[in-house]
Amino acid sequence: MSREPIKLAELNQLDHAGFVAICGPLFEHSPWIADRTFVQAPFVSRDHLLSALLDTMHAATPQEKLDLIQAHPDLGGKLARERKLTESSTAEQAAAGIDRATPEMFDMLENLNQAYRERFGFPFIICARENSLGDILLSFGPRLSNSEAMEIRTALFQIGKIAKYRLFDAIDE
Ligand code: GUN
Repeated sequence: MSREPIKLAELNQLDHAGFVAICGPLFEHSPWIADRTFVQAPFVSRDHLLSALLDTMHAATPQEKLDLIQAHPDLGGKLARERKLTESSTAEQAAAGIDRATPEMFDMLENLNQAYRERFGFPFIICARENSLGDILLSFGPRLSNSEAMEIRTALFQIGKIAKYRLFDAIDE
């Protein structure tokens, strides 16, 4: 279950493993981002920590970036229906109202997720905490007509926003 936020000053005192235990989950199933960022500690602010983590993400190889994108669950997908999401993902999907979608909206989301995966080979990523289900459904249209390179950039940008919300929940300044 989610723990109380840790103070940034305390985070700065942690050893490598302790730092990864807190910052690892800021990126879905991808603790390597926190692992590689630890050397930059101490951090003077949460924004400093976030920008160091995002620098690590952007410095990763193209394959690592794709693996990070692939690590995300589909919004309203099988893992959500079977309640097998991480705690953060469950909260994010609920924030967008996906857990309360009508069967028709759920079907629409499933079809759009599938069309997106068929086109790009990776899941559709949007920061669920910044968008309602209606906004999410509408955003598929323009995203589906983007190039693959543009969608990889967009997915990483959205993952950065997801990480920012998780960081601000997990760490107090
Ligand atoms: N997949 C698409 N959007 C999101 C999101 O905001 N959070 C998580 N965990 N997975 C997603």
